[in-house]
Amino acid sequence: MNKLGTQTIETKRLILRRFRVEDAEDMYNNWASDPEVTTFLTWPTHASVDVTRSLLTNWVTRYEDGTYFNWVMESKETGHAIGNISVVQLREDIEAADIGYCMSRSYWGQGFMPEALKAVMDYLFDEVGLNRVAACHDSNNPKSGRVMQKAGMKLEGTMRAAGKNNQGICDKVWYATIKSDRIS
Ligand SMILES: CC(C)(COP(=O)(O)OP(=O)(O)OC[C@H]1O[C@@H](n2cnc3c(N)ncnc32)[C@H](O)[C@@H]1OP(=O)(O)O)[C@@H](O)C(=O)NCCC(=O)NCCS
Repeated sequence: MNKLGTQTIETKRLILRRFRVEDAEDMYNNWASDPEVTTFLTWPTHASVDVTRSLLTNWVTRYEDGTYFNWVMESKETGHAIGNISVVQLREDIEAADIGYCMSRSYWGQGFMPEALKAVMDYLFDEVGLNRVAACHDSNNPKSGRVMQKAGMKLEGTMRAAGKNNQGICDKVWYATIKSDRIS
């Protein structure tokens, strides 16, 4: 695995880049303060922009680490930070990553997250050299599964009562792509 960390990735409509502490206002206003965004997430809605700023202050110190992958999604059209996509678990021994993501509600339904996920998968397979990229969603949150499908991931199955988020214990539906899927 090449420990390249979070490098800038450009897509048609997005710049995926490292967070800066100055992204706190956008992150708080656009998604971290919205209980609808955090419904199926594992972290609580931020109560104030200070919570977001202190989180980002910690995140930016971690970019020195080549195994830390955490992008802010910047809209090319507006220049605003509109979402977040990151590796939530990395298994170096089997060269595998699990991805997590969330985005501002006002940008939902325009295919932004599939666009970001495809680009992150290309980066993790082609540049970092991983063998497996996976993601999971609460079975009650199928729109996240649509993102995984549109990015070309294959359904692997459901782990019952295997996760916990803001709704409590949940069934986790897993999708993944492995390197050999991309050749065939
Ligand atoms: C899940 C999420 C990232 C989808 O991103 P997106 O860029 O809107 O993805 P898409 O545009 O491909 O839409 C995916 C699905 O969302 C649903 N959707 C679309 N517009 C919507 C809207 N305005 N409101 C609610 N759902 C909508 C549709 O089911 C769509 O599938 P379809 O294209 O087959 O109709 C986004 O809804 C989000 O941030 N949700 C909250 C955080 C979250 O659940 N993260 C995933 C945790 S596993």
